[in-house]
Amino acid sequence: MVQFRYEHLFQLKNHGVPRSRFAAEAAKLPRFLELIRTRGQGFYDLPDDTRSVAEILEYARKVRGKFDHIVVLGIGGSALGVTCLLQTLKHPFWNVLPKRARKEPQLFVLDNIDPSVIAQLEETISYKKTLFIVATKSGTTPETMSQYYYFRAKMEREAGRIIAKKHFVFVTDAVRGVLRGIAAKDGIPCFTIPDNVGGRFSVLSPVGLLPAALLGIDIKKLLGGARVMRDAFFEKRFVRNTPFQLATIQYVLEQERGVAMTVIMPYSSALYSLADWYRQLLAESIGKSETVGLTPIKALGVTDQHSQIQLYTEGPRDKFIVFLEVAELYKKQLVIPSASVSDPSMAYLKGVTFQELMSVEKRATEQALFEYGRPTATLSVARIDPETLGALFMLFEGSIAFLGEFYDINAFDQPGVELGKIYTKKILS
Ligand code: PA5
Repeated sequence: MVQFRYEHLFQLKNHGVPRSRFAAEAAKLPRFLELIRTRGQGFYDLPDDTRSVAEILEYARKVRGKFDHIVVLGIGGSALGVTCLLQTLKHPFWNVLPKRARKEPQLFVLDNIDPSVIAQLEETISYKKTLFIVATKSGTTPETMSQYYYFRAKMEREAGRIIAKKHFVFVTDAVRGVLRGIAAKDGIPCFTIPDNVGGRFSVLSPVGLLPAALLGIDIKKLLGGARVMRDAFFEKRFVRNTPFQLATIQYVLEQERGVAMTVIMPYSSALYSLADWYRQLLAESIGKSETVGLTPIKALGVTDQHSQIQLYTEGPRDKFIVFLEVAELYKKQLVIPSASVSDPSMAYLKGVTFQELMSVEKRATEQALFEYGRPTATLSVARIDPETLGALFMLFEGSIAFLGEFYDINAFDQPGVELGKIYTKKILS
């Protein structure tokens, strides 16, 4: 489902991955698998949660046709995966498609409290046709809760107290936070994020699955793809364990060459938001001390060839570039008509498809980076569909779990984020 190519990293002499070190680190796989098990994390069990899937599908069936707009109130891990699901698996202009061209509602992810966006969202939606999904693992995040209180009050004014409740659904922890109490009191449906699944690892829990199902995305296939990669994640054989291979390369490059930045560069507009989702995952999970942290960077092929590649090619030797490549970007081929290319100097574009052009440009960029001794690798998929995206989510989450073991840190907490939350509360109080 996902091919990983990185052989040329061993040919980069002084700038690549030394084989001996790589082999030594690769030998840690069985021990790391045992250590990961002892941490009791739940992200890798999510693909088996058939109960949540059944509940979500039942809810989606009940509300089908009732709403024109869905607004997700959430931030960080409660928002980035949802945006990724929308942008990767739905039409690129989903929210501006005419209603007759969409069977499902528009979806807006309000992952900030910028009042200009809140106010202008209100101008965009009709309250009476809106479902608010309030997603927060802790159930106390000030950004999300402030949005909730604001929109709940507005909804009550628009639709009346009794009806307003029908416009909300919660996704939160089983016991913690304030949403559980509100849900119980007001009879608001509430989906559970398992206790051992942290925010940035929650995209395959109801956090991502609920909005995905409401958008008509096949969540069983999404989880099916994740399951295949989860099984690879638990493979003791190195060659089968793509998440471990990725983590090993990142670790060795950082330790041996000081390459402490990972650029995720999809050659696919749809996958750009996956790079955004990964940005949180890597930063919050591994940035744990003054000496431990990998900086994630997102870039888009071919767009950023014209804004970033100069830096990656000739700038500091601190970046590892991971390309994401899709064999079939679109079901039809769009060809540049030969007859329209009248300038002899541009003749090489005659009859070329955009798919070909994109893939040639990716190869050319890779080749150029190689010649400058810059480390790159490629994750290739056949096409973008729910299975593939599920597999990619799990691949990256698994690689983070391994990185945590390489650096001997807890990749699953975020004390630095929590402190900011505490101070916000203190200052406002
Ligand atoms: O990964 C994490 O746990 C955090 O970044 C959270 O996703 C973010 O702080 C939002 O928290 P919550 O889902 O509790 O509202």
